[in-house]
Amino acid sequence: MHELPDGLIKGTVTDRIDWTDTVFSLRVNAPINDYVAGQFTKLALQNEAGEWIRRAYSLVNSPNHKNGRQEMEFLLITDPDGELSPRLNALNRDDPIYVGRMASGFMTLNEIPDSMTDLWLLSTGTAIGPFLAILDELQTQSRFTNIVLVHAVRRADELVYQSKIQALKERYQGKLRYVPVLSRESCAGVLKGRIPQLLQSGELLRKAQIKLTAENSFFYLCGNPSMVRDTSEALVNMGYRKHLRRKSGHFSSENYW
Ligand SMILES: Cc1cc2nc3c(=O)[nH]c(=O)nc-3n(C[C@H](O)[C@H](O)[C@H](O)COP(=O)(O)OP(=O)(O)OC[C@H]3O[C@@H](n4cnc5c(N)ncnc54)[C@H](O)[C@@H]3O)c2cc1C
Ligand SMILES: NC(=O)c1ccc[n+]([C@@H]2O[C@H](COP(=O)([O-])OP(=O)(O)OC[C@H]3O[C@@H](n4cnc5c(N)ncnc54)[C@H](OP(=O)(O)O)[C@@H]3O)[C@@H](O)[C@H]2O)c1
Repeated sequence: MHELPDGLIKGTVTDRIDWTDTVFSLRVNAPINDYVAGQFTKLALQNEAGEWIRRAYSLVNSPNHKNGRQEMEFLLITDPDGELSPRLNALNRDDPIYVGRMASGFMTLNEIPDSMTDLWLLSTGTAIGPFLAILDELQTQSRFTNIVLVHAVRRADELVYQSKIQALKERYQGKLRYVPVLSRESCAGVLKGRIPQLLQSGELLRKAQIKLTAENSFFYLCGNPSMVRDTSEALVNMGYRKHLRRKSGHFSSENYW
């Protein structure tokens, strides 16, 4: 057996939610250091040879939630050919799980320029997770005038966390628009297609009922790297600029693979 690598700590699975055959959430308790909403940490298990396999996973909860930062939630999808995700999908309550003590990542509120009043959170699949953490923060509610949460998935049953989103919408009192997008199924009243095309055609804006203004709008893009690439291109074509710490811009992203 290989020793526990530096930076990993032992935690426990406290619950799981099965959304579909492949999409699930794990609740984990572990003595993790402080983190910021929008960040990710590592989850790890050993394979049959005792080797450690670790991958990055975003926290779905804000560290300031009522149960304390050590009660964490992760949203996952199993890739049947993947090394770690099928092993994580086999875990049940009370099973041990290993967690990176230090979370990291820059897709956080403090990276957004102060002048931005409208926040667009564009996600595919499991990448809605860090956006739910950001929305959980009370600061998000007071800071922005309009927030649009876009979640693009293949099929309607992958539109997870409906009751949490409904509760957030009520809490945000009209400031938060939720726009689901389906790519491989039709559903009355729900946008069909892919984020970059829907952005360029104006359909996403019409659905969100928001005007885009370059001075005030900031976009976070998260998930499938080809969505991130195509949406970045679409935004540049629409006159927006990638945000850099040394030169303020309108969009930033995180790729999941
Ligand atoms: C910063 C960051 C945060 C991440 N957060 C999450 C998260 O919150 N939830 C999560 O499920 N995954 C997340 N991932 C992906 C995760 O780290 C693993 O890559 C994934 O679970 C697959 O691991 P694997 O060992 O089973 O397969 P791997 O061999 O690592 O990957 C197999 C293939 O699966 C596909 N894939 C990987 N991740 C996803 C995904 N999330 N959705 C759809 N297809 C995928 C890709 O085609 C990839 O090549 C994140 C990755 C990064 C870099
Ligand atoms: N039953 C199963 O075994 C099963 C089921 C689902 C998923 N999986 C596994 O999970 C993985 C896929 O998971 P996922 O569906 O959450 O992720 P995904 O493949 O990233 O798809 C999520 C959404 O992103 C869209 N998308 C893909 N490329 C895009 C681009 N360039 N621009 C804009 N949008 C884009 C997809 O649209 P499109 O549909 O148009 O690509 C889909 O709506 C696969 O690796 C697969 O192994 C397995």
